[in-house]
Amino acid sequence: MVKICCIGAGYVGGPTMAVIALKCPNIQVAVVDISVQRINAWNSDQLPIYEPGLDDVVKGCRGKNLFFSTDVNKHVCESDIVFVSVNTPTKTRGLGAGKAADLTYWESAARMIADVAKSDKIVVEKSTVPVKTAEAIEKILTHNSKGINFQILSNPEFLAEGTAIQDLFNPDRVLIGGRETPEGNKAVKALKDVYAHWVPEDRILTTNLWSAELSKLAANAFLAQRISSVNAMSALCEATGADVTQVSYAVGKDTRIGPKFLNASVGFGGSCFQKDILNLVYICDCNGLPEVAEYWKQVIKINDYQKNRFVNRVVASMFNTVSNKKVAILGFAFKKDTGDTRETPAIDVCQGLLGDKAQLSIYDPQVNEDQIQRDLTMKKFDWDHPLHLQPMSPTAVKKVSVVWDAYEATKDAHAVCILTEWDEFKKLDYKRIYDNMQKPAFIFDGRNIVNAEKMREIGFIVYSIGKPLDAWLKDMPAVA
Ligand SMILES: NC(=O)c1ccc[n+]([C@@H]2O[C@H](COP(=O)([O-])OP(=O)(O)OC[C@H]3O[C@@H](n4cnc5c(N)ncnc54)[C@H](O)[C@@H]3O)[C@@H](O)[C@H]2O)c1
Repeated sequence: MVKICCIGAGYVGGPTMAVIALKCPNIQVAVVDISVQRINAWNSDQLPIYEPGLDDVVKGCRGKNLFFSTDVNKHVCESDIVFVSVNTPTKTRGLGAGKAADLTYWESAARMIADVAKSDKIVVEKSTVPVKTAEAIEKILTHNSKGINFQILSNPEFLAEGTAIQDLFNPDRVLIGGRETPEGNKAVKALKDVYAHWVPEDRILTTNLWSAELSKLAANAFLAQRISSVNAMSALCEATGADVTQVSYAVGKDTRIGPKFLNASVGFGGSCFQKDILNLVYICDCNGLPEVAEYWKQVIKINDYQKNRFVNRVVASMFNTVSNKKVAILGFAFKKDTGDTRETPAIDVCQGLLGDKAQLSIYDPQVNEDQIQRDLTMKKFDWDHPLHLQPMSPTAVKKVSVVWDAYEATKDAHAVCILTEWDEFKKLDYKRIYDNMQKPAFIFDGRNIVNAEKMREIGFIVYSIGKPLDAWLKDMPAVA
């Protein structure tokens, strides 16, 4: 029986390994992590991450051919294929701080593999890493190999949170990069055989190591660039009276462009886009390509601009001050159907409003108070380290309350900001919400999910990103 071990039981390691176990009953899969809390949660009824469909997949194979454990050494030692899916945060100090990837966790995982291995292993890079990381890992492993043969593969993960299970069941492509040597080809074939249990062969692409590593960074940069492009258009739409939804529909009808990822919003978030682009920028700089670096940096700048623009719209509309006004925040996760708040635009928007002394009441169906308080007090980039290495207990932000109901959050509020596109926010009784709010009552829709006309009929003053402006907002500057 082939044995697989995955180091890192996070948003990627957990779901990918659960799907491999489900689709390959003849393979034994162990997911290991240094976080006892995370492993305990994976072994309980309350999984550590929320992902539609994940519960069923885990319950279908946990205890049969899928195991979650903190015994990292044992499982690594026993396995034929070791996936490494640890976090790769942005460096906060030293060379490349604020841009380069921090490979501390990756390096320590590689050294541990070299330490405990007693038989040949295929080591698979699942984490998103800078180009040529595999080469560095290969050096660590071969210099400590004690005669054991390690083959390194790059197999970047393309799943999107919120649709992870669907994406894993039916991927657009699986990418495997390896050394172009007989041993390298053999290792690629072994990993290909795992995916071939359920992925059609023509969707399993094989490349050299560096192409696979760079493809992941490039894919995320292209996706984020589409969002920044449409968000840049949204500012122009507001200034000219065009409607960004109509513009992006018309643009997306061009088959060369396509309709996906063209929704204007308060900005992109998630653990990957910003981190991976920063990484790309750093790699370009290091390779003497400042123009290319500058080009990609602009994607992040537009994203920051869009979040600032949103905060400024809110403050400017409400007589230039939100001081001591209750503002309801609907949605804190970076997108719907996930509880993940890493790099969520809600953090910047909330901090911007708190900077103007607003009183926030936050509701998200999947994010609890601890997480929100932690996010609002955490230093930049600290969030991407394992929990036990993050600063101890952040001081709670007093002007923030977290509630478990949208009606409670909006009661007596002056304004509602919709920051995540949760389906339930489309179905709320906005008349009831309006009746219980201070007047004038404002809605700032950062995801364009409510029908602005209907909201205006109820009595709200409405701001929807990239849509013709309410008369109220027309002469108010959106950029500080
Ligand atoms: N989240 C996504 O949507 C996504 C998608 C594609 C790729 N990625 C990439 O995948 C990687 C993992 O992302 P994630 O979202 O799963 O991160 P995560 O923070 O949720 O999980 C990483 C886990 O690795 C564990 N870990 C760190 N060092 C370890 C060690 N030495 N031994 C054992 N466990 C260790 C941590 O405790 C943590 O639980 C990152 O490189 C990310 O860029 C993420």
